[in-house]
Amino acid sequence: MNYIGIDLGTSAVKLLLMQGDGSILKVVNREYPISFPKPGWSQQEPEDWYRETMAGIKELLWGRDKSEVAGISFGGQMHGLVVLDEEDAVIRPAILWNDGRTAEESDYLNHKIGQETLAKHTANISFPGFTAPKVLWMKKHEPENFARIRKLMLPKDYLAYRLCGVHCTDVSDASGTLFFDVEHRCWSKELCGICGILEEWLPKVYESFEAVGCLKPEIAKELGLSETVKVAAGAGDNAAAAVGTGTVGDRACNISLGTSGTVFLSSEKFGVDKGNALHSFAHADGSYHLMGCMLSAASCNKWWMDDILGTKEYAKEQEGISEKLGENHVFFLPYLMGERSPHNDPNARGTFIGMSMDTTRADMTQAVLEGVAFALRDSLEVAKSLGIEVKRSKICGGGAKSPLWKKILANVLDIKIDVLELEEGPALGGAMLAAVACGEYQSAEQAAKAIVKVTETIEPEPALAALYEVRYQQFKEIYPACKQLFGTLK
Ligand code: XUL
Repeated sequence: MNYIGIDLGTSAVKLLLMQGDGSILKVVNREYPISFPKPGWSQQEPEDWYRETMAGIKELLWGRDKSEVAGISFGGQMHGLVVLDEEDAVIRPAILWNDGRTAEESDYLNHKIGQETLAKHTANISFPGFTAPKVLWMKKHEPENFARIRKLMLPKDYLAYRLCGVHCTDVSDASGTLFFDVEHRCWSKELCGICGILEEWLPKVYESFEAVGCLKPEIAKELGLSETVKVAAGAGDNAAAAVGTGTVGDRACNISLGTSGTVFLSSEKFGVDKGNALHSFAHADGSYHLMGCMLSAASCNKWWMDDILGTKEYAKEQEGISEKLGENHVFFLPYLMGERSPHNDPNARGTFIGMSMDTTRADMTQAVLEGVAFALRDSLEVAKSLGIEVKRSKICGGGAKSPLWKKILANVLDIKIDVLELEEGPALGGAMLAAVACGEYQSAEQAAKAIVKVTETIEPEPALAALYEVRYQQFKEIYPACKQLFGTLK
């Protein structure tokens, strides 16, 4: 049978049609707008997600035997707040994961409610991108909208709701709300109370690989699919990507170089980073994970290429840089949307430092790629301090298409990078979760064993890793030196 994986991303929805054995029949990409109405704000229209997803499914299945499709599931951008009124109409644009407007509400949660209380009930502290501070923001700044809330959900759950009519979410995505008890995999009554969230607004929680229902008759008809096609709960995009890259079971690592950048560490046991720099979330394979998340990763390079240099020739801009690795005197802080892990600072900003009259365009491009790698290392250093020794990692996301960036990462992080045959991350993970829900595989782990294949391993080079060690120690000094100033640059 065939399975559809839907990756509801920040700039586009990616849809993939997978055969039961893991081979990919087709991939479709459809973009939608994102709006930044004020500095640090970030919003999208759920209707755009739905429209492009429906069009994408039709495009994906064009000319194919639709009776072969057995299941659909998702990987979705996390933390976004979607609210519906009693008519099931979307009340306001979704406030996204990289929106920094809730600094005040997040501070209130961390300092008035207290990080210890938050960690006790949810395993995490507050970050402005999480869902709970968004609910508090809405309550304070849009009381009329807040009073109309009847259903609250996360971005991919809105798609599931439109497709199958079930108000559902999954454990991995719910983990990023800060009103979910991660250890016990259920909503936290305490945090819902603190945020003013009524129980009846909340979706039912499923494991990521569980079927939540079947396509609604009118949706099945519109898509030409059977009403028996199952919809599985799916996962937050990072957990879905982890399934799609085989980062399941104990002590595996995946690095995602997408709009955000994440270091995802799977774990059979529940665990919390005492310093709360890494998120402690439920995994889509039925277990747990720790995760460091930077808010701007491949998006830094996209910004630098598209908006500043005005070019789409990413590979051409990177030509020749590999001769000069480890020797760049220019540094870049990749905090274009503030930063989550490990600084938790919505005021942090992008910064170039170290230029001189002989600095070239290529040096600055290199600094952008290196700055993202250094910032990912910050999260790996936190993991190391918790006794988690990472020796190798899978990689996925748009940035992983650059051989140069992968080489920089292997050497900055001083780990082996396993490159995969299929780099489709969250969309593939979504399709695999659908396959598990339909009984094609017994578990996400079994699906990953059968489907995920490593084609190449990039090894760090000792001399280059040593040069990068010196540079990383310098990089680490820059944020603390600017921190105070960032707070005044509003
Ligand atoms: C994870 C996070 C991002 C988004 C990107 O905590 O905020 O990775 O999920 O889509």
